[in-house]
Amino acid sequence: MGNRAGREKFSTGLAAFFATLGSALGLGNIWKFPYLVGENGGGAFLFIYLLCVIFVGIPVMICEFYIGRKTRKNAVGAFQKIGTNPAWKIIGYLGVLSAYLIMFFYSCVAGWVYSYVFKALKGDFNAISAHSVEAELTKAVVGPISPLFWQLVVLIVVSVVLICGVKRGIERVTKTLLPVLFILIIICAIRAMTLPGAFQGLYFLFHIDFSQLTPNIILMALGLAFFKLSLGMGTLITYGSYFTENNNMITTAIKVALSDTVVSLLAGIAIFPTVFSFSMETGAGPGLLFLTIPLVFSQIPFGNILLAAFFFLTSIAATTAMISIVEVLVAYLSEEKGMSRTKAVIFNATLIMFIGMLATLSADRASILGDVHIFGRTFFQLFDFTSSNVILPIGGLLIVIFVGWVGAKEEFRYELSNQGMLKTDWLISIFYFFIKYVAPVLLAVVFLNSIGLFRI
Ligand code: PFF
Repeated sequence: MGNRAGREKFSTGLAAFFATLGSALGLGNIWKFPYLVGENGGGAFLFIYLLCVIFVGIPVMICEFYIGRKTRKNAVGAFQKIGTNPAWKIIGYLGVLSAYLIMFFYSCVAGWVYSYVFKALKGDFNAISAHSVEAELTKAVVGPISPLFWQLVVLIVVSVVLICGVKRGIERVTKTLLPVLFILIIICAIRAMTLPGAFQGLYFLFHIDFSQLTPNIILMALGLAFFKLSLGMGTLITYGSYFTENNNMITTAIKVALSDTVVSLLAGIAIFPTVFSFSMETGAGPGLLFLTIPLVFSQIPFGNILLAAFFFLTSIAATTAMISIVEVLVAYLSEEKGMSRTKAVIFNATLIMFIGMLATLSADRASILGDVHIFGRTFFQLFDFTSSNVILPIGGLLIVIFVGWVGAKEEFRYELSNQGMLKTDWLISIFYFFIKYVAPVLLAVVFLNSIGLFRI
């Protein structure tokens, strides 16, 4: 283990695909995507989200793979090695900062998911009503002991995996379990579609009404695309540095983005029909997943087993995503600061637990710190908003500028064609155009607008 940049590699393109998908799939698909679609008006938001994935997300992902594989370094070290000017390392530092910010709230939500596995097994949700499912959620979220306990459990699990370095073990587990998650989500989606009034939910998800769109919604969609695809913070630079020489990075990026989007849509199809069928609020916010999925399974045979399995697999997806986030921090500290891997893991987990408590204790209005506001947001919201909607897109903007305007096109073409082995020049040219012109312009416009310098 020890210093891993450039040493370890994924064995095949398929392994690289699963590892990257393991990072992309997570709470973003099953928890965040549905509630943001719900809060921001359904189909129109979904449409903008898909455009963000195609025109910005996939191009940024390709850039990250390119930088990682070319340098075979961690996020900060990569820019040191490749950059003409050391100032570009700022991208790596921003990545480190957002890795912390994301972990502060992500470990909290993952804790709720872990706790739901046990609640489901205990039968807490058997034949439950919409009203009592809300009471269960409040218990799990407000705590304060239970959510803090589960957050700690989450961080211990992530740390143990990272310390043991069972990355290959985890990859193998992911390879088997991610398809099972996929099947369970399909079962959920089918079950939800057979509920009375399901059509309204599907209509909400897929009906596009542009009058709903505001610049802020576009910023949210862009932030979600970055969060979903693990972009803008060096995670995929780190993973890219483990890719083999013959990996087709463009097709890997397209396949990851596509699979990730399908899982998000299935989660939406599982959730919105339930919301309408049980007359719940589409804008229920971060609690949406926890309020709806127990109802989907509540009245069917073996419902609690299916429910526990669903939350168990969601917790696996969340855990593999967290491993990729903490890996950014561990790779940086061990390779650039000479810290041992074990020390780096323990240091990070402790820091995340201490500051992450602020997110956990402010997650609900009834939480202990629920009405402490900084810049108009609770700690939980502040960590989430600053990372997803500010730092990740800024990181993405700098990455595409770096690749499109600072680096040489020939080097990009050479690396993406696997030293000329792949005859995909036309595809490379299309993505180079997106990287050089389309993505930076879109990212800059959305940004200037969000900070009030330019109005769409
Ligand atoms: N993509 C993960 C999800 O959708 O849950 C979250 C995530 C992982 C964000 C890794 C950022 C990252 F670097």
